[in-house]
This record gives sequence, structure tokens and C-alpha cells, in this order.
Amino acid sequence: MPETRPAPVTVPAVRAAKRRHGHPPLVMVTAYDAPGARVCDAAGVDLILVGDSVANVVLGYEDTLQVSVEVMAHHVAAVARTRPGALVVGDLPWLSYHLDPADTVRNGGLLIRAGAQCVKLEGGASRTPMVRALVDAEIPVMGHIGLTPQSVHAMGGYRVQGRDDEAARLLVEAAGALAEAGCFAVVVEGVPEQVGSAVTAALEVPTIGIGAGPHTDGQVLVLHDLLGVTARPARFVRRYAELGEAATAAVAAFAADVRSGAFPSDAEVYR
Ligand code: KIV
Repeated sequence: MPETRPAPVTVPAVRAAKRRHGHPPLVMVTAYDAPGARVCDAAGVDLILVGDSVANVVLGYEDTLQVSVEVMAHHVAAVARTRPGALVVGDLPWLSYHLDPADTVRNGGLLIRAGAQCVKLEGGASRTPMVRALVDAEIPVMGHIGLTPQSVHAMGGYRVQGRDDEAARLLVEAAGALAEAGCFAVVVEGVPEQVGSAVTAALEVPTIGIGAGPHTDGQVLVLHDLLGVTARPARFVRRYAELGEAATAAVAAFAADVRSGAFPSDAEVYR
């Protein structure tokens, strides 16, 4: 059984959760709807990320560039209606924080009004004006650096980032700029473990890794990856169940019962 959480998780509590100060690793999992949120919250995760990965994980798109802030607000609201004790992080989608600070605050506000308690955005130093504007509007911000899926075309694919010394140095610098601008935590994705360690050592706010090695202040995985629902998960994913196979077997058993006349039985009929 997971440890029971005494109180809802807050932004200040996450901000203080550095492992080097004795805090246990943060656990973040994505969820995009009410059943997913209930599963994550009952399991005792610290943060639920309503990620823009909803685009490829749930909505059938090729990449995360296809979802608007309105679509994200729809999914944030479904998660928030379950009133989880975990902190709800709303992911700002591509083009919702790239134009100007006012537009960014309006879009951040949409996710907060939908029920998120904070927002996440991708990128480094070039995003700091947007981070400052959000923080000035009382919207807490989580950064996201390294392999940033919204940059898929600029990166030439989903490639591990920070492989050489200069690229690693730039990532540490980017993380520092985000923290300095007011981010309360930073996701570090798809980097060698040494980069995960270096960014974590450089920051006073926690890092949450995904494919960034074991030394970050927390770990995040996509719910459908860890449940074994997605087809081709990345190397860094550990599958804790094979629910995709189990679901197919269940539906196939139902189909067979219908076709053989075994469903419905007497017990499943109103008299
Ligand atoms: O959208 C998402 O699922 C994410 C995680 C991979 C961190 O941003």
C-alpha cells in the first residue's frame, strides 16, 4: 500500500523537495481524464501532470504539436473534477506561450481556471520573460528542458540532448535561468545521467527526471507507458503492468461470449 498523504500537495511543498535536504524523491505521473487521475491519486503520487502528451498518447496524433490550450483545459478540468490530493500541473501546449507575455498569462489563466494549480512550459533562457509574467500573475511555473517534445522539428527527431560538454553546460545554464526567473521545479527529459545530476546539483529547486538517470529529485512517467498500454515505449520506461494486452483479451472474451450466446447469462438479465 502507498503511504497515506497527510494533506494535499502544494507548490511550496514541491519547491522545498530537494533530495539533498533529505526529502524523498518526488513522484509525478501523467493523467488526462478522471479515471486516470483517480488511479494516480489513489496510488499516492505527489503530482499529476496533465501533459500535452495527451495528443499522441490518447488522441492519436503523431506529436504533441497538435493540441491547443482549449483542448488542454478540457483535460485539466476532467482531472481536477476528481479533486486529487496530488498537485495538478497543466501543460501549456505549443504556441500558447511563445507569442508574448500577455498571451502567455491569458493561456496560463485558462488552465488555472480549469483546475490546474500550476503550469509547465518547455524551453530555456528564451522562455524567462514568459515565466516571469506568469509568476507575476500568481501562476506557479514548472520548467522543462532537455529533450523537449514540442521542439521535435528543431531537434530533428526525439534525440537525447546534452551529449557533449558544451551542450551539457548550456542545459545547466538553461535550468539556472528558469529557476532564477521563478520556476518552482524543472523537468529534465532525455539527457545522460551526468547531465541530470549536474542540473540537479546546480539548482535549489527540485528537478523531476524522465530519461535523465537516477540522481534527479524526482521521476515522472507517462501513465499509459507504465501501465503497458502504449505500443513502443522509450528505453527509459519501465512497464509495471501489461494492461494493453489484458484489455484486448477482455474485449476478445466478450466478443466470443456474444458470438457463442454465452453472454448475457440468466444472472445478467432483468426479470
Ligand atoms: O506531456 C508530457 O507527458 C510531459 C512529460 C513527458 C514530462 O511533458
